Amino acid sequence: MKRLEGKVALISGTARGQGRAAALRFAAEGALVVGGDLLHEEAVETQRLIAREGGTALTPGPLDVTDEEAVRDWAEEAVDAFGGIDIVYADAGAVRFGSIDSRPYEDVVFTVRAELDPVWLTVRAAWPHLVRSRGCVLTVGSTAGPAGSLTNRCAARSASKDAVIALTRQLAAEGAPHGVRVNCVSPGVIDTEGSRDSPLADDHPMNDISGHLPLGRLCHPDDVVNAAVFLASDEAAYITGADLVVDGGWSTVLPGAPSRKAVRS
Ligand SMILES: NC(=O)c1ccc[n+]([C@@H]2O[C@H](COP(=O)([O-])OP(=O)(O)OC[C@H]3O[C@@H](n4cnc5c(N)ncnc54)[C@H](O)[C@@H]3O)[C@@H](O)[C@H]2O)c1
Repeated sequence: MKRLEGKVALISGTARGQGRAAALRFAAEGALVVGGDLLHEEAVETQRLIAREGGTALTPGPLDVTDEEAVRDWAEEAVDAFGGIDIVYADAGAVRFGSIDSRPYEDVVFTVRAELDPVWLTVRAAWPHLVRSRGCVLTVGSTAGPAGSLTNRCAARSASKDAVIALTRQLAAEGAPHGVRVNCVSPGVIDTEGSRDSPLADDHPMNDISGHLPLGRLCHPDDVVNAAVFLASDEAAYITGADLVVDGGWSTVLPGAPSRKAVRS
């Protein structure tokens, strides 16, 4: 028996990166995947890749997860096609990096709107169906939420991702009486198209971060998706309100300086 057999999974951001990896893996685990992305052609390609492996997926049309009406229609397409919604995986997000003194206010508004609003809108649209199915929600936080960073100036990102984690906890409280579980997966630095544009770009101070991570390599989208499959499955039936950090130990292991002599302050 596959771990998500017959579950209807609404997954955003399925054109590339973690969203595509999630769509492929959830379908391989038996889920019926309803995907969506601004990059519609690429999301349809994900659907084709799933079909080629014998899985089931639907990509109704170009989707902007910051558009309330579009998100509502997307959720309804899933219900019309498959009869309900069991899993919401709110993956899609976009960010404008920069320190507080380097970016215009509109970039902050953009980032919060692109990262926090989609979680709210997607969960809101699917909520009655999740209550009916006693389903579950997966949100995507970041180590940038609970921790600041000296190398990655990302004030707006920190604020929006910590808000996603806070929203996860509150939704867990509101879902619990209905049997709806809500959990967050918080990656460190993942090697995706999105991060190659910024923290992993050649001229960025975080470019060589992999050598400083306790487990010695960047996060792969599949590392995140492995955690998400677990949280969506019955194996996690007693887990709600969690923020599962998938960062190779980055945020919990203190940095060392083995080649230097200790300096007392
Ligand atoms: N890459 C990292 O290092 C990293 C670290 C921590 C958290 N995250 C989070 O993981 C999630 C996925 O990131 P990724 O690295 O796969 O990024 P990515 O940029 O490679 O993929 C994001 C996908 O979301 C889509 N998208 C963005 N805004 C959208 C919108 N308004 N409507 C519909 N689709 C939209 C994009 O088109 C893209 O296909 C995001 O929530 C991101 O904040 C990423």
